[in-house]
Amino acid sequence: MEKKNLDWANIGFGYIKTDKRYVSNYKNGAWDEGVMTEDDKVVISECAGVLQYAQTIFEGMKAYTTEDGRIVTFRPDLNAARMADSARRLEMPVFPEERFVDAVVRTVAENQAYVPPFGSGATLYLRPYMFGSGPVIGVKPSEEYQFRVFSTPVGPYFKGGVRPLTICVSDFDRAAPHGTGHIKAGLNYAMSLHAIQTAHRNGFDENMYLDAATRTKVEETGGANFLFVTKDGRVVTPKSGSILPSITRRSLMYVAEKYLGLEVEEREVAMDEVKDFAECGLCGTAAVISPVGRIVDHGREICLPSGMSDMGPVTKKLYETLTGIQMGRIEAPEGWLVEIG
Ligand code: PLP
Ligand code: COI
Repeated sequence: MEKKNLDWANIGFGYIKTDKRYVSNYKNGAWDEGVMTEDDKVVISECAGVLQYAQTIFEGMKAYTTEDGRIVTFRPDLNAARMADSARRLEMPVFPEERFVDAVVRTVAENQAYVPPFGSGATLYLRPYMFGSGPVIGVKPSEEYQFRVFSTPVGPYFKGGVRPLTICVSDFDRAAPHGTGHIKAGLNYAMSLHAIQTAHRNGFDENMYLDAATRTKVEETGGANFLFVTKDGRVVTPKSGSILPSITRRSLMYVAEKYLGLEVEEREVAMDEVKDFAECGLCGTAAVISPVGRIVDHGREICLPSGMSDMGPVTKKLYETLTGIQMGRIEAPEGWLVEIG
């Protein structure tokens, strides 16, 4: 199969239309059988639940070309399960988990020409999503939904590729206790837009959100979880009911413990202890692990000892092991890679 003629090494994190996408509709209490289509346009009621009351959820995952030329996706079963949790929280019907994985695999299979070659630095980003398509004017769940999966080749999420970032402690809250911070709902991202634009205008790459109730504990950024490394080499990640359970972070914690023999801790992280860490990274599908070099908390600067020119040594080992697994250079735990046949 011939690859598209794209400048793989230089694509950014943006949308490039690919050939086929998956669509399934929910009506009269049931999902239809779903189709692959070339039609990239969505036509819905002017009064659709997604347009009026933001009833929409999504997932983010990637397909990779391995060193030996296979195409794989990474732990799609976990994205399927998380989307089911998101659906339940927004009173949407669950798209069956095995059908979710099948839809993702079909979308990759039919867009193989867009899966970036091994070693190019790019990957095929997959965006499964579901929204209320039927009309609602009283505040209630839609009776009709659409589930779709599209793909787009992407490069690094942060401009300039992998380089230490400067982030700021946000004045805005991302998620309330008992709210929707733990699911992947569009509404969490709509409300973060003003915060991220403000951070960018002030010269920062990202926001660090603290817990909304006390503003003393580290939560996450707008699109990634945190990993910290202590000066004695332990890997620490914040535990909170209002952050998204990142699949990358869960995988990295496993890799840290089982592949690298490091001690790992998932626990509350006080803002006050951040100054004592040796390394900090942002982890997610889009971010992979992006090192943080500097954190600015209202005029107080925390400069991580790992500095502003390179990833810290533990972050680097984690990065290399995880991407090694995803690209087939290092043996993956059972069930982590799903091959596109
Ligand atoms: N946190 C937020 C708010 C996100 O949007 C994402 C991206 O999906 C993540 C964390 C990372 O999650 P994952 O590793 O599953 O991509
Ligand atoms: C992802 O990492 O897949 C996300 O959805 C994060 C988003 C900010 C691009």
